[in-house]
Amino acid sequence: MTLTFPDGFLWGVATAAHQIEGGNWNNDWWEFEHRDRTRCVEPSGDCCDSYHRYAEDVALVRELGFGAYRFSIEWSRIEPEDGEFSEAALDHYRRVLNECREQNVQPIVTFHHFTTPRWLAARGGWASDEVVDKFARFCDRAVGRLGDLIAMGCTINEPNVVSQMGYVGGAFPPGRRKDFDAYLKANDNFIAAHRKAYDALKSGPGDFPVGITISMDDWWVPEGAEELLATARQVHEDQFLEAARGNDYVGVQGYSRIRLDENGRQLGPEKGIEVVPSMGYEFWPRSIEMCVRHAAEVADGTPIYITENGLGHDDDNRRVAYVSEALEGVGRCLADGIDVRGYIYWSLLDNFEWTLGYAPRFGLVSVDRKTFVRTPKPSAAWLGEIARANRT
Ligand code: GCO
Repeated sequence: MTLTFPDGFLWGVATAAHQIEGGNWNNDWWEFEHRDRTRCVEPSGDCCDSYHRYAEDVALVRELGFGAYRFSIEWSRIEPEDGEFSEAALDHYRRVLNECREQNVQPIVTFHHFTTPRWLAARGGWASDEVVDKFARFCDRAVGRLGDLIAMGCTINEPNVVSQMGYVGGAFPPGRRKDFDAYLKANDNFIAAHRKAYDALKSGPGDFPVGITISMDDWWVPEGAEELLATARQVHEDQFLEAARGNDYVGVQGYSRIRLDENGRQLGPEKGIEVVPSMGYEFWPRSIEMCVRHAAEVADGTPIYITENGLGHDDDNRRVAYVSEALEGVGRCLADGIDVRGYIYWSLLDNFEWTLGYAPRFGLVSVDRKTFVRTPKPSAAWLGEIARANRT
């Protein structure tokens, strides 16, 4: 089946600072990676050394045929201590943005992608009383120096994952389990911080669309458990989608499916369904279609960008199969009149997948762990061609 996408549909690839830059020792993740009894299989270390090799990365984005590059700026570099801003770090990100502009790649900038400066984490991080104002101040300072070069802004990436994993699941810093008070507080803080940051980004230099990106799933429950599903979804996804209503866009990020039993306990993959070995979840390419449909409903017509979708797999052919099927789902959403404006693949590079380390390979491009040499996989040329042609 051939699919043609609307004129101006944005094709891009994504990364995040802590997953590719290397040496981000001043944030809560680095500290978490190095704890005595850490849940991380390995520390992030040098990552892809993108802090120095960003020009190569941007060149790859352009050469492969993508029009946009989504990346994040690292708060702990820009504000290494409370209220101390690094001009050199801001200069660095200006150089990255300039590189994008020179290479004719639209820079999509995320202001918070999972990592928080150590000084703030030590004072309670996202469950503290001060985090909302501190984050808004950071956004204000950063956009003041960078805003004129930004093409699209994202305030916070997947706040719902940071709070869930940080205060309930224990797999993200601060590594707490079942601390529901802190979880609820962090959720409220994230929503308040998004609102303040949105205003800060809108009132800085430049005039670019601003939104937030949300982690979503295709959810399944047994018949009769619909109410339970609605409750789970309200806490995990919908309150954040509601906070995006009226924003310039909402970013939808979906990879797989979550199955709950009638008591709300998470079930593993369904028998007979292929499992993605590195992630342990179902190979479920129709996820993104279901996520987009749900986001369109809850965010009430707010324009949608798919800001992340992809597959972490050693077999590059499975990636092509996954994205092909995912794009068919995007096509069905478009055919139904849903305002989807772009598809951004996660990720440009094989990179640091948080607790799971370097084993999951989401990249269109592999990276040698010692020499940092980048080698595009066949899927990179395949998806780049779709991006260039704006059709499958
Ligand atoms: C995310 C994450 C990425 C992950 C990706 C693959 O926003 O979920 O941005 O950091 O690497 O989702 O699991």
